[in-house]
Amino acid sequence: MKVHETAFITCAYRSSDVLLSGDPYAKLWDNPATKVWVDGIINEVSPAEPYLHCLRNRYFLTAMIDFFDQNPDGVLVNFGSGFSMYPFLIPKHINCMDIDQEDIISYKNLKLNEWMMKGLLPQRDLSYVMADFRDKDPIDIITKIRSWIDGRPSFFLLEGVLYFLSASVTDRLFHSIKLIQKEGDLLGCVSFLPESAQTKVQLRLNDYFDKHNFTNDTFSHQMLSTESYHNRSGYSLIDHQDYIDLSIKYTPEKVIKDKFSILNENMYLLVRNKD
Ligand SMILES: C[S@@+](CC[C@H](N)C(=O)[O-])C[C@H]1O[C@@H](n2cnc3c(N)ncnc32)[C@H](O)[C@@H]1O
Repeated sequence: MKVHETAFITCAYRSSDVLLSGDPYAKLWDNPATKVWVDGIINEVSPAEPYLHCLRNRYFLTAMIDFFDQNPDGVLVNFGSGFSMYPFLIPKHINCMDIDQEDIISYKNLKLNEWMMKGLLPQRDLSYVMADFRDKDPIDIITKIRSWIDGRPSFFLLEGVLYFLSASVTDRLFHSIKLIQKEGDLLGCVSFLPESAQTKVQLRLNDYFDKHNFTNDTFSHQMLSTESYHNRSGYSLIDHQDYIDLSIKYTPEKVIKDKFSILNENMYLLVRNKD
């Protein structure tokens, strides 16, 4: 498995319950190879994964819609965007930029154009940046993103990507993001808590990726404490939810009871402070 295959997997999860995820377009990425991986994860790691990713999509979609209601001239910048479809789920006038590795961005650009031409997707004017966050000198990318934003309010997203990065790459990325955003901008993040590291389900996930990683791609299994978000320089934590909280909010008829029996990711919203 290459890391880019996880981007297809996330879309397949989102398409499992469109009403919950709010994403009717994720299914466009479905393909037979991804189905094999998803079935493997459901059977060998956890059957709750598709449902949990629908909760996650719903949470960030709701947060960005609220932000763009208040900031109609705002922009969405998605780091490690994979094949997520937020630009098609938010109002057309919001400018969006997807940032990911070259293979993901090339393929996404190709397929989205094809689907827009065929009328399978509404028209959107998207911007892309190809980047590997492991690159030591991000200055070109910072300059490119900053000039594209051009002073507008921004909602940045780091969804499903921190697990794959090392601590030093993560610190560099947060630092770059801090240099680009300005007071009042939002940053959404997802990560696992270190206290979940030894749960059976978490070990099964790590094993599953390691067992199927036939490449040089990094599956760093990174976990981040909530405290680390409180301590992020330049930011204040304004919201923190886990999947139990989201299940209560979005599916009260199906509340998750045991947080250690699932892959309990934590969702964070941070606001950029004044320098
Ligand atoms: C699980 S997918 C999540 C994709 C998307 N954010 C979502 O929620 O659907 C992880 C994404 O992180 C990207 N990624 C992982 N390591 C990266 C790196 N070093 N530089 C840039 N992108 C990276 C992968 O290419 C992939 O698209």
